[in-house]
Amino acid sequence: MQTIELNNGVIMPQLGFGVYQIPNAQTKEAVYEAIKAGYRLIDTASIYGNEKETGEGIRKAVDEEIVKREDLFITSKLFILQAPEDKAKETIEKSLSVMGLDYLDLYLIHQPYGDIYGAWRALVSAQKSGKLRAIGISNFKSSRMIEFVGLNDVKPQINQIEVNPWNQRIEDEEWHKKYGVQVEAWAPFAEGRHDLFSNLVLEEIGQKYGKSVGQVVLRWLMQRGIVALAKSVRPERMIENINIFDFELSPADMETIAHLDMKESAFFDHDDPQQVEWFMNRMKDTEE
Ligand SMILES: NC(=O)c1ccc[n+]([C@@H]2O[C@H](COP(=O)([O-])OP(=O)(O)OC[C@H]3O[C@@H](n4cnc5c(N)ncnc54)[C@H](OP(=O)(O)O)[C@@H]3O)[C@@H](O)[C@H]2O)c1
Repeated sequence: MQTIELNNGVIMPQLGFGVYQIPNAQTKEAVYEAIKAGYRLIDTASIYGNEKETGEGIRKAVDEEIVKREDLFITSKLFILQAPEDKAKETIEKSLSVMGLDYLDLYLIHQPYGDIYGAWRALVSAQKSGKLRAIGISNFKSSRMIEFVGLNDVKPQINQIEVNPWNQRIEDEEWHKKYGVQVEAWAPFAEGRHDLFSNLVLEEIGQKYGKSVGQVVLRWLMQRGIVALAKSVRPERMIENINIFDFELSPADMETIAHLDMKESAFFDHDDPQQVEWFMNRMKDTEE
């Protein structure tokens, strides 16, 4: 597995497996199958509601000696409600105990709302005590990332943001490079929106290398130096998606993919009032 070095010296796999929207009943098996397929980076979040089952899948793979815990790179995230410092500390502890782990490899502030500075102090303190190897943010636009770096002593190692062929984040990538914050792509397939998996341009590129659209997209992210998280509940697709380290897209193909950029989210804008309202309601729901 190809790796990336973060700004604190921690090494992480460049391709990972995400468990967002995997139903609880399927998560343990999906995580176990993903580890069997060769994934070492696993991404969950407290708000996904499947941290427990993610931990169970990890334990099954470790118990069966498919992998050692120290060879895995496990991520979870803190949702908005838990942002105030004390709550954030509680949430980190809760993630660890629910997942049955002594430490996490990466912990992120999931959304750019609420007391992100208080939350950050909690993450920094947990990192110092060895409970979190790397810490970061998610869904921060470059402007917020720059402000956040400027106002904190400890810089985030990662910003996990949407990156896919429809929303390529080329300028954002430059800003993150300038500040030494690694970009990690969520929804690399845009969850199939705009018919990604049957896009003719991507299909044609794939045919040249004997690869699928999904493989072309993930390979394109690897060549850009971006960490990518792919989700699938199907073992055959997990295997397909990780089988991307035996070919290289030509500069011309990289350029052709660059032309697919629509420069806007395939999902939503984090500054859209309706979306912020949705997040605030979600926060209240989790509070109850
Ligand atoms: N930080 C954040 O706010 C945030 C937001 C969203 C996601 N994430 C993280 O990023 C991960 C990935 O994003 P995502 O799950 O939203 O979307 P995604 O990985 O872009 O797309 C997943 C979809 O693609 C399908 N798929 C996967 N591989 C395929 C293949 N080779 N051929 C055809 N279809 C394929 C899956 O279906 P099947 O499962 O049926 O195969 C699923 O419907 C998440 O799981 C989560 O860990 C983070």
